[in-house]
Amino acid sequence: MRAVGAAPNLASILVALAGTCPISLFRTAGDRVVGVDLATIFRHALILGASGFGKSWFKALQFYRILIRACRRIAEQGSHVLGFETTVVDVKSETAQLLKLFIALMFLRGNAAVREVLRESVHFVGWSRSRITLRPAFAIMSDISVEYQARIKADLLVRASRSPWSEAQHFLLVQTLRAIGEVPEHTFVLMFVELLCRNESFRLRLVEKLTSRDLIDFFAHLPQRIAPQTLEAFIRRVAIELGYSLVRLILGLPPHVIASLGLRQHAPITLVDAGVSNTLPPSIAYALANWVLTDELFTASRRDPSVPLTIVLEEAVALLTMATDLLDLVLNGLRMLRSLNVNIEFFAQSLESLPQHAMREMLLNAVTVTAFQSPKSVGELLYPHVLREPQDRRSEADRKREFLRDIESLPRQEAIFWAKGQPALRVRTLDLERPERIAGIPVEELDDIFHREITPTSTIEVSRAAALLDDYEASLSREVRASSPSTSRPPGSVRDLRSALGLGEEPDDDE
Ligand SMILES: Nc1ncnc2c1ncn2[C@@H]1O[C@H](COP(=O)(O)OP(=O)(O)O)[C@@H](O)[C@H]1O
Ligand SMILES: [Mg+2]
Repeated sequence: MRAVGAAPNLASILVALAGTCPISLFRTAGDRVVGVDLATIFRHALILGASGFGKSWFKALQFYRILIRACRRIAEQGSHVLGFETTVVDVKSETAQLLKLFIALMFLRGNAAVREVLRESVHFVGWSRSRITLRPAFAIMSDISVEYQARIKADLLVRASRSPWSEAQHFLLVQTLRAIGEVPEHTFVLMFVELLCRNESFRLRLVEKLTSRDLIDFFAHLPQRIAPQTLEAFIRRVAIELGYSLVRLILGLPPHVIASLGLRQHAPITLVDAGVSNTLPPSIAYALANWVLTDELFTASRRDPSVPLTIVLEEAVALLTMATDLLDLVLNGLRMLRSLNVNIEFFAQSLESLPQHAMREMLLNAVTVTAFQSPKSVGELLYPHVLREPQDRRSEADRKREFLRDIESLPRQEAIFWAKGQPALRVRTLDLERPERIAGIPVEELDDIFHREITPTSTIEVSRAAALLDDYEASLSREVRASSPSTSRPPGSVRDLRSALGLGEEPDDDE
């Protein structure tokens, strides 16, 4: 018999971890498979470890196994839903790309019912040279204050920016985004910003459509409130930020135009691949990833809690140290979203560059911690929880020293897995074959299946988006011309048009 108070043995730990609905994820050193209850998987999680040691593949393994289970229920029991939701925000591309291929693999193998559910259930957010997802700066979320959204989104853009914004410029950005939020026919394009700052009749007509009194007051008296050189500097800043043509397209199309395209905006599985670093500058990719995350957290607060939602943050620390408001929103989410059946998975190399309070909150709220090769500090944290083998006769000091050395040198795929309430175990993630190997077709074909069969309405061609943006800008010009005294003047050169619009000279990019 086991003595009272003795450490639990491995067998009983494995039973406890497996719960009622286990997903196999690891093997122990003694080669026993570790299944983890879905109820535990759908809780806040920290996945730590140096680059290249198995974090992304661990995510893929877990996702693939859950997807297999869901597809089986669809194929065999006539279910019509996946039964889980996931949003992956990935600034490194690898995880999103891998999950994409596993989804395509399941589609390839699935029967008609599985294919139909997958077609309905996946949204892809990504930006390549040929196709892009449209992501207007302001997805209108009626029950969240426009002002709050504007502040957070302005903050993200300013922090992601490669050059500094003055306080006055930052403030103007907040006010401009608020105006766009209150008047959804307009969007964040340079022409709108120029008109707002330079064209009085345009601005006064916009003021009539605003609802917040302070904003009405601000824009009604803009020239008295903000010096002309500050307005011009603001326009130059915006011109620089929107200098990338893809960025103009992603942010610039009005919501009603996007709605008319019948594009998918959301789905149970949303993969955000913000890592196309050769098409978008990294600062913009990060800002976009954070904007999407912000929207996701806002929407999560209104969701139906009967289905679990997992928000996966790749490079979580890099992403979150960019913006304090967003970090607060996420920490708040850790505390509040549980009751809405939402869990957040943080993937990071380490937590060290987070502010102390943030690190503490994450550790406190995480129900599982999986640490691949990690610095000693992570070892210090896990050490008190590690399962002690009964036959281990080392002294406490030796055990600790060796554990800390071990965690710093864990081979690829090996990790310490700690589900709170149970001892931490030394494990190795199960081997996963590449999806194209399992499918037996080239990776390009699998990728093609994903974009052609599963998410054709998630993105549109760049050329089409460009034409639609031209239409919107042309409508802005028409609106201004119709209301200005020089209506009858025939269209002339661009410069004439600019002066007709009251836009002045083209801003120069000397900042
Ligand atoms: N469970 C696994 N099964 C098979 N190969 C794996 C597994 N985990 C990691 N690998 C291999 O290790 C490499 C690095 O793993 P990855 O998950 O990309 O690391 P990280 O995300 O931590 O940087 C992968 O490209 C893959 O070849
Ligand atoms: Mg990775």
